[in-house]
Amino acid sequence: MKTFLQSIGNTPLIQVEEFPAKIFAKLEGFNPGGSIKDRAALKMIEAAEKEGKLKKGDCLIEVSSGNTGIAMSMIAAAKGYNMKVVVPSTTAAGKVKIMEKFGAEVIFDDRLRQEIIPEIKEKIANGESLVYLNQYENENNVIAHYEGSGKEILEQIDEGTDIDFYVAGVGTGGTLTGVARRLKEVFPDVKIIGVMPQVGHEIIEGIKSIKEGFVPPVMDEKIVDEMYELTEEQSLVGRDYLASAKGILVGPSSGASMYAALDVAKKNPGKVIVTIFPDRGERYI
Ligand SMILES: Cc1ncc(COP(=O)(O)O)c(C=O)c1O
Repeated sequence: MKTFLQSIGNTPLIQVEEFPAKIFAKLEGFNPGGSIKDRAALKMIEAAEKEGKLKKGDCLIEVSSGNTGIAMSMIAAAKGYNMKVVVPSTTAAGKVKIMEKFGAEVIFDDRLRQEIIPEIKEKIANGESLVYLNQYENENNVIAHYEGSGKEILEQIDEGTDIDFYVAGVGTGGTLTGVARRLKEVFPDVKIIGVMPQVGHEIIEGIKSIKEGFVPPVMDEKIVDEMYELTEEQSLVGRDYLASAKGILVGPSSGASMYAALDVAKKNPGKVIVTIFPDRGERYI
């Protein structure tokens, strides 16, 4: 019998399109916390436990667009840690309520990540009793996708089907990097397409433009063949298409990846494209 936290991962890979190219999507909203971030949060927390950096009653802090905050708050509740999450004030109210239900303290801060992160590190250096696992710099974020999401895609794709393109949104870059590294071991020629919003487009929660001047240290820029930039309107077109034409209710960053995947499909008929839908749509309603 599985424990609750062991139900993280092993999400479905489904086919969304046949023409002009095949598009397959991994439905990460099937994770118990509703997003792909359950994977990274569990891996980072369990690594810290093994390294002796985390013990019952400790208080974790994380900077998040909401989903890592939800994932860590859920796991913190299950394992007996306290949790503080720093999020932008534009974070969907549904996400904030979920974190609070898990007992987390939600702190709103609209500054750039590169301003907030050093401040937290400084507070800890000055003796504040917080454990900061830092998804932007923690290699376990990448490993979660190398060992989890990426490995599962290879197991789930039909035998004999070669993957030509992998399309994924970039927040920390953990998903893109970990999955791309795994896929390249089997399909060395797979083209890696990162999806990001234009600078200042805040609706697409979870993904950020690297043109804002911050490339997260966990992101391997060398592995990326192309960064696909799109507007928030385009990401909502992708999201609404999935809901109305396919019955798949996902968040705006999934819509962004779908929009990009459809464009890649148009330009590359007959090819095989794999993408990831990072979360469920309900939390944005
Ligand atoms: C909704 C959503 N999409 C995409 C991402 C991007 O994932 P990653 O941080 O692995 O790049 C996130 C990350 O928080 C997210 O919450």
